[in-house]
Amino acid sequence: MLIDTHCHLSSEYYDNINQIVEENKKASVSFMVVSGCDKSGIKEVLELKKKYDCVFATIGYHPDCADKITYNDLNVLKEQLKNDKIVGVGEIGLDYYYTKENRDKQLWLFEEQLKIAQELKLPVVIHSREATLDTINILKKYKLKGIIHCFSGSLETANIYIKMGYFLGIGGVVTFKNSKLKEVVKQISLDNIVLETDSPYLTPEPYRGKKNSSKYLNNIASYIVNIKNINYEEVEKITSDNACKIFDFNIK
Ligand code: NI
Repeated sequence: MLIDTHCHLSSEYYDNINQIVEENKKASVSFMVVSGCDKSGIKEVLELKKKYDCVFATIGYHPDCADKITYNDLNVLKEQLKNDKIVGVGEIGLDYYYTKENRDKQLWLFEEQLKIAQELKLPVVIHSREATLDTINILKKYKLKGIIHCFSGSLETANIYIKMGYFLGIGGVVTFKNSKLKEVVKQISLDNIVLETDSPYLTPEPYRGKKNSSKYLNNIASYIVNIKNINYEEVEKITSDNACKIFDFNIK
């Protein structure tokens, strides 16, 4: 059994979600944590998790929404987070890749959502792009658990997050030919890793160019098997146990 801790299973990307869910089950991906990270995405995952036993969800406002979100929107989010099968706040964070001009607004949105997570005792799923220092400095102010989604930083950064109690979300990037992430993954313990696809993005090798889906999670697991020279069952068990630990899943 594998758990995809981060994907975007949305009708925006997939014509037939029923079929995707079936394919995932056949590929031993027993559970998916779907991320709804803007207003319409959140509404969609709230319906999706009712429809499928295997779907859990995290919801939160992505830094891309920073210019649009109001206090009132945050109050709505807080109520939505109290729903059954909503297992965390995310993906939330900072993204300076496209613009740093709205940095203050991004910091505000990020921090308000960390406060909500703390109040509701929920884990967080962190999106951080070109913003490592700010991300670490803010997270240090809160006692939270969670995942650094799509981690692709240095070993030094990995160790900082691990020391703070965060798990690293490892996905397709680890399979890319020139990825430095392989070396990082080699050096950190499996106890600090969860698997994710971030589908439909970041399709792993050898499927690059195709649309990503949770069914490819076993490819990512296989790459980690090779990198760390351990057996597949170990990767499967430990990463799934880690996901259960973070999200408080009670699944057997
Ligand atoms: Ni994502």
